[in-house]
Amino acid sequence: MSIKACIFDMDGVIVDSAKYHFVAWQELAKEIGVKFTEHDNEQLKGLSRVDSLERILKMGNLHLDNDTKLALMDKKNQSYLQYISSMNEEEILPGVGEFIDELMAAGMKVALGSSSRNATVILERIKLLSKFDAIIDGNKVTFSKPDPEVFLKGAEAMGLKPKDCVVFEDASAGVKAAIDGGFRCVGIGEEQHLNQANFVIPGFQDFRLNDLIQRFK
Ligand code: BG6
Ligand code: MG
Repeated sequence: MSIKACIFDMDGVIVDSAKYHFVAWQELAKEIGVKFTEHDNEQLKGLSRVDSLERILKMGNLHLDNDTKLALMDKKNQSYLQYISSMNEEEILPGVGEFIDELMAAGMKVALGSSSRNATVILERIKLLSKFDAIIDGNKVTFSKPDPEVFLKGAEAMGLKPKDCVVFEDASAGVKAAIDGGFRCVGIGEEQHLNQANFVIPGFQDFRLNDLIQRFK
């Protein structure tokens, strides 16, 4: 089956922003009296801002009204934006920029499928915005990962079917979204969190287009 396009998650795949999401959520959790560890954070990866907050509130058995929730999400986002304000190309994860260039040179399409509402800001800051044929982010979907909507919209925007595309994901919610949507999926990170993926690689350092083609022959 030939591959016509790759769809990339952003946080934790293209850029190491997961650490900033973690510290910003941890600050907020502390403020509302909820213990929040790195292990808890793993469960939030790939989830939308609102779903992440809901999980944290559930951990603390807290029930808050909508206005309070909106204020808390805004606070977390302001702090996150502060953390990423000095982000630049140096924070692109090793090898991923070269991998995207290789795809483009081979005439393949490239899309973004991210839950983040800050995706455009980040891609601009790390100077990758112009490389994408389609950008589907948290502002363009109704249902967040593990729902496949974000990737289905990405494939549609490129005029392709899920079976033509490979999704790269670092979060178990994102891997589930890709597989449920009928995509092939490469997990980025540790096998234990991503066992639904077709295969898992630690990152793009030693991964080239030819490796992808060989694996999906
Ligand atoms: C995902 C991250 O990409 O985007 C989540 O993995 C994050 O941790 C989500 O909560 C939403 O991001 P943002 O930037 O819209 O708050
Ligand atoms: Mg991610």
